[in-house]
Amino acid sequence: MKRNLITAALPYANGPIHIGHIAGCYLPADIYVRHLRKKGEEVLFVCGTDEHGVAITMRAKKEGITPHQVVDKYYEQISSSFEKFGIRFDHFSRTSRQIHHETAQGFFKTLYNKGLFEEIETDQYFDEEANQFLADRYIVGTCPVCGNDHAYGDQCEKCGSALSPTDLKNPKSALSGSKPILRKATNWFLPMDKISETPEFKEYSKRVEHWRGTVRGQFKSWLAEGLQPRAMTRDLDWGIPVPVDGADGKVLYVWFDAPIGYISATKEYFREKGKEEEWKKWWQDEESRLVHFIGKDNIVFHTIIFPMMLMEHGSYILPAEVPANEFLNLEGQKLSTSRNWAVWLHEYLEDFPGRNDELRYTLTSIAPESKDSDFTWKDYQLKVNSELVAILGNFVNRVMVLCSKYFEGTVPTGFAHGTYPELSAKAEEMKQRVMGLGANAGALMDAFKFREAQAEWMNIAREGNRFLQETEPWKLWKTDPKAVEGILHESLNLCAYLAVSGSAFLPETSAKILEQLNLEEYDLVSNAWNQLEDGANLGKPFLLFTQIEDKEIEQQTEKLKKTIEASQQNDRIPEPQKETIQYDDFAKMDIRVGTILEAVKVPKADKLLQLTVDTGLDKRTIVSGIAEHFSPEEIVGKQVSVLVNLAPRKLRGIESQGMILMAESEGRLMFVKPEAIAENGSGIS
Ligand code: MF3
Ligand code: ZN
Repeated sequence: MKRNLITAALPYANGPIHIGHIAGCYLPADIYVRHLRKKGEEVLFVCGTDEHGVAITMRAKKEGITPHQVVDKYYEQISSSFEKFGIRFDHFSRTSRQIHHETAQGFFKTLYNKGLFEEIETDQYFDEEANQFLADRYIVGTCPVCGNDHAYGDQCEKCGSALSPTDLKNPKSALSGSKPILRKATNWFLPMDKISETPEFKEYSKRVEHWRGTVRGQFKSWLAEGLQPRAMTRDLDWGIPVPVDGADGKVLYVWFDAPIGYISATKEYFREKGKEEEWKKWWQDEESRLVHFIGKDNIVFHTIIFPMMLMEHGSYILPAEVPANEFLNLEGQKLSTSRNWAVWLHEYLEDFPGRNDELRYTLTSIAPESKDSDFTWKDYQLKVNSELVAILGNFVNRVMVLCSKYFEGTVPTGFAHGTYPELSAKAEEMKQRVMGLGANAGALMDAFKFREAQAEWMNIAREGNRFLQETEPWKLWKTDPKAVEGILHESLNLCAYLAVSGSAFLPETSAKILEQLNLEEYDLVSNAWNQLEDGANLGKPFLLFTQIEDKEIEQQTEKLKKTIEASQQNDRIPEPQKETIQYDDFAKMDIRVGTILEAVKVPKADKLLQLTVDTGLDKRTIVSGIAEHFSPEEIVGKQVSVLVNLAPRKLRGIESQGMILMAESEGRLMFVKPEAIAENGSGIS
C-alpha cells in the first residue's frame, strides 16, 4: 500500500479564502485525496495558515490592528470556511504555534551548523523615521522598466517586472513616506547557485521532467537564468526569531519557515494522537510520496527552494509531484484581494447554502490546470442548470421516481438469464461504456487531470439518460412490466456507480445518491455495480439539484460591482507627492479650454480614441487613452482642458497634438473642465 503525504499551500492568514485559492489548490488537492482514499491508499492531508511575512503586517497596518489580531481573525475564518466547504484535511495547523517555531528554528540550526549558509552583508533600505528596515514590499517608487510610479521593491504590478528595491527610482517608505537610507545588514543566504550544481540536485531535477509542462517550464527557466543566493533571514520584527547568536532583530524569511509548516503540521497531528515519532515515517521514509498542491506563484518555492532545504538538511524525502495550477480569473479580470475583486468562500457559503457541490463542479470544470481560466456567474448558472440539474440530477431522479411509482420504492429484479436478449445486450453495452468512462476518469485523476476526469464522469450520467431514452421503460410498463424491472434494475446500478465514482468530485451529491439507494459507500468500493439486492427498500426520491435562477446570478454580479466600488473608496492610498518644481516649470505648460468635436475608436487599440478638438487656436487631432471609459458618442460636444504645447507624438501611427487632462477616481476617469461653459482657447493657469 502506498503512503501519500499530500500538502496544500498554507494560505496567508491575511484575508479570507476566495474561489481562486479553491480552484488553484485546495479543491484539486481534496479531490486527489478522496480519490486515493477510495483506492485504499494510505493518505495524510495537511495544511494550515501561513502567519508570518509582510503579507500579514501589511494587512495589520491597513486594518489598524496588530499582526496578532490579524492572524487570529483570519485563521478562524479560513479554517471554518474550509470545514464548511468540505475540504477534508487530516490536520489544519498554524505557523504561529510553538511546535512550528521549534521545528523551523531546529531546521535552520541544522543547516547553520552544517555551515551551509553564506553570511553576506548587503545594503538594505532603512526607514529612519519608523526606525526599522524595510521589507521589499514596503518600498514604493518608480519602475525603471515602465515608469509606473507606484511600483514595489519586489515587483512592478503594472508591467510585471521582478525588481529589487534598489532598482526603484525615487524610493519612498510606505511606512512613513520618507526617503529611506541604505544601511548595511548581514543575513544568512541559501547558496542556491552552488546547490543547483550538486549531484543530489541534478538527480532530483530528473523527476521534474515528468511534471506538468507549466511547472517544468518555470523550473527550467529559473535554472536557466542562473540561481542566486537568497537570504533566509530578514531584518524584520514579525516572524520567527533567528536562533543563532548575533541575529537580534532578525527573523526567518517567511518562505523559509512556511513550507516547514507542512512538517510541523504532521508532527502536531501525530503528537495529538500520542504518536510522537510517527511523523518521521511520512517525511523520512523513501516509501512515502510527497505531493504539493499549489498555485503558480508558489512554484519556485516548492520545486527549488524547499527541496534544496530538504536535501541539504538530509534524511528527508523530496517531492514526488508538484501539480501547480495556473490562475483563475473572475469575469475576465484578475482576482484581487485588495481590490475586493473576488468571490469569497465564506460569502458563497452564506449565499448558496447546501450548494457546495455546485461550486466544486463548476470550479473543477474550469480548473486552470494548463492555462489561466475564467469564472463567470453566467457560466456557473449554465453548468448547474444544464449539467447538474438537467443531466445528472435528472437521470437519478427519473430512475428513483420510476422505481417508486412502479415498484413501491424497492429494487426491481434484474433481467433473468436468457430473457430479453436485446434489452440485456443493451444494458451490457451500457455497463461496458460506463465502466470504461469510470476507468478513464480514475486514470485521469491519477495524472492530476481533474478537469477531464470530471468530464468523463459526467458522461456516465449521459449514458444513463441515453439508456432510459433508448429503452423507454414508461412505454413498456403497461405491456411488459418484467422488462421494466430489468431496465430499472440496471439504471439503479448505474446510479450507484455514479455515486461511487463521483464521490471525489461531488462528495455531498454522492452521499445523497447513496442515501436514496439506501446503500453505504463502504459496500461499494470494490464493486459498485451489483450491490443492490432485489426487493430491498430504496430511500425516498428527492432532487439532487435545483435550478439557479437569473435573479440569484444578478445579485452576485451586482454585489461584485458594489464591493469593488466600496473597496476602492476605502483602499485609496493617495499617490505620494511628486518632487518640488519651480513656478517656471509650471508656467511652461500651456493649458486651454477646448471642445471635443469628433471622436472615433482607433482600430485595433482597445484603449485609444482619436479626437478632433477645437482648442480655440485650431482644430487638432489628439489621441487619448480613454476608450475603455467612454464611448465616442457620449463625449462629442464636451468641454475639456487641453495641454496644447505638448510635443506631438505618434500613437498607432496617428500624430497626437496635445493631451486631454483627466481626473481619476475609484478607477473611473473624468474630464477636468471649467465649471461653466468657457470660450474655447481660454487659458488655464
Ligand atoms: N502563503 C503562501 C501564499 O499564499 C503559500 C505558502 S505555501 C508554503 O502564497 F509552502 F509555504 F507553505
Ligand atoms: Zn513597471
